[in-house]
Order: sequence, then structure tokens, then C-alpha cells
Amino acid sequence: MGKVFVTRRIPERGIELLQRSGVVSELRIYEEDRVIPRDELLASVAGVDAVLAILTERIDGAFLDAAGPQLKVVANMAVGYDNVDVAAATARGVIITNTPGVLTETTADLAFALILAACRRLSESEHYLRSGAWKFWSPTLLLGVDIHGQTLGLFGMGRIGQAVARRAKGFGMRILYCNRTRLDAAEEQALGVNYVDKATLLRESDIVSLHCPLTPETRGAFGLAEFRQMKPTAVFVNTTRGPVVKEAELAAALRDGVIFAAGLDVYENEPQIHPELLACTNTVLAPHIGSATQDTRGKMAAIAASNIVAVLKGEAPLNAVNPDVLAGR
Ligand code: DGY
Repeated sequence: MGKVFVTRRIPERGIELLQRSGVVSELRIYEEDRVIPRDELLASVAGVDAVLAILTERIDGAFLDAAGPQLKVVANMAVGYDNVDVAAATARGVIITNTPGVLTETTADLAFALILAACRRLSESEHYLRSGAWKFWSPTLLLGVDIHGQTLGLFGMGRIGQAVARRAKGFGMRILYCNRTRLDAAEEQALGVNYVDKATLLRESDIVSLHCPLTPETRGAFGLAEFRQMKPTAVFVNTTRGPVVKEAELAAALRDGVIFAAGLDVYENEPQIHPELLACTNTVLAPHIGSATQDTRGKMAAIAASNIVAVLKGEAPLNAVNPDVLAGR
């Protein structure tokens, strides 16, 4: 049995799972529809055995110490866990879990939606129409760039990158990728992808889409130097984590025509968006909704809850990101 704190209202499936588990002695939920203030968060986790957290919470040494030595698990309701200091958790024997797999296809759908929307200037087109500016059909109105038959460069080739590659195949695209580790030949053949270095990816791609995790190596990996290596007709898409991109430099590249357009779901300092980026009409901007479908968010909540239940039952959770902690138990 254990006490559980949930840092925000999450889909009901996750809450029901915790309530029916038979191992939760006390369940408290931060019910406000806003990010829990840090001092309230630290006070709320004191004495709990498990926390179901979302990516707006910083899970660091101070958080773990505020919870106390009885804390067993923090289940992050996201596949990315760059908001968590995993080393600090491991040092304190706290298991960290994430929610991989269930959001792969949903996030790939959004990445592809941004590719389509940015290439075909859909946001700009809608704004043009709604503003009443459209007076007649014109041969030169809102000309975009093609998607079909073009070269797509995937920076990062994990589950989501591969799911985007499968979609791109249907559009007859040539697909290049760059990744820490190369896929094996059979996987490359099945996906129809070619492994290249970053410089080749930037030089040859018509569309560059990011699918790497945020790590010390990828932080700031895309700035003006990279955009200048891309084609002036290139479209840049980011659905992974904002800090992989130097946002001010992306805004400058879009403003000055260094690249053609961008489709973004994530930002360097969410929810703040660089004002110059907001001013760029050649961008399609979404508020970090990559995994935001009813079904997928329900599954993510259920997985995070199941990971907590497993730990409270003394079992290994399915999605530990620091399994060393389990080995030490
Ligand atoms: C994740 O799971 O990391 C996503 O960014 C949430 O949509």
C-alpha cells in the first residue's frame, strides 16, 4: 500500500486504475488546470510513495528530497524524461518510468501534419481566407513546396522517426536519416531509408524533421549554422523538444529566407515563444500537442498509473528508465 500524488488532472483511465488497484491507500490530485507552483509541489509530495508527474514538473534532487526517503517511484506521463534528473533519482533508489510506444503513431501523425501544413502554407492560407483577403483565384497565390517525391531528412531514428519514415514512403519520398546508431541493413531496407551524416542530411533534404531525444549532445544542435547548410526551399519540422533548436536563430532564418518554412510543436522555453517566431508567417505553430489524442493520452495515463501500481505491489514496472534501481533491490 502507498500514498500517491498526481501533479495534474489526467485522463480518467489513469485515475480509475489507481483507485481500483487495491494498493493505493491515499490518492491526491492537483486539480487546478495550470502548472502546480513549485513550492506547492514540494509540499504536496512530502511523505508520498509515488508521484504521477507530467513534463512541466522538474524532478530533481530538491524534489526527491522534499518527497522523502520512502519515495519509490516517479511515473512521468511522457516518453521524454528530460524534465527528470535520472542520476539523482537512481542515487536515491527512486524508480523513474516513462510511457513509450503508445504515442509513437500519434506523434508521427502530428509530425506529418506539420510537414504537410508547412510545405503547403496552410496556416497562412487559412488566415488569408478568414481575414477576407481572398478575392479571386490566382495562379501565383500562396505557392508552397511539394511533399511527394521530395527528400525527407530524419534527424533521430527511434520509434517515432521510423513511424514518420513509414508515412513518407507512402508519399514516394526519398528518406535520409542520421542517428546515434545505425539501423541494421534489413531494417533500413524495410523502411526504405538511407543512413547519412548530419551535413549530408542538411544539404540534401527538402524537409528536415527532428526525432531525437533532448540530451546534452542534442541541446542546441540546430542553429543558424545548420539552417545555412539547408536549401533555401527547405522546410524544418520539430516535434521532439524545443531546446534542440536555438529558437532565436530559427526565427532569424525564417525571417531572412534562409529556409522556406517551419512546422513546430515544441519550443525552447514553453509556453513562451520567441516573439520573432510568432511574427513569422511562414511557420505553422502548435502548442505541444504531439501525443494529444483522446485515445493516446488515455493510454499514457493508464501506463503511468500501471507503473506506479507495479512498484507499490513490489513488482518491476514495465517502463523503468533506470532499471539499475530494480537490480539493487
Ligand atoms: C512526450 O511524451 O514526451 C511528449 O512530448 C508528450 O506529448
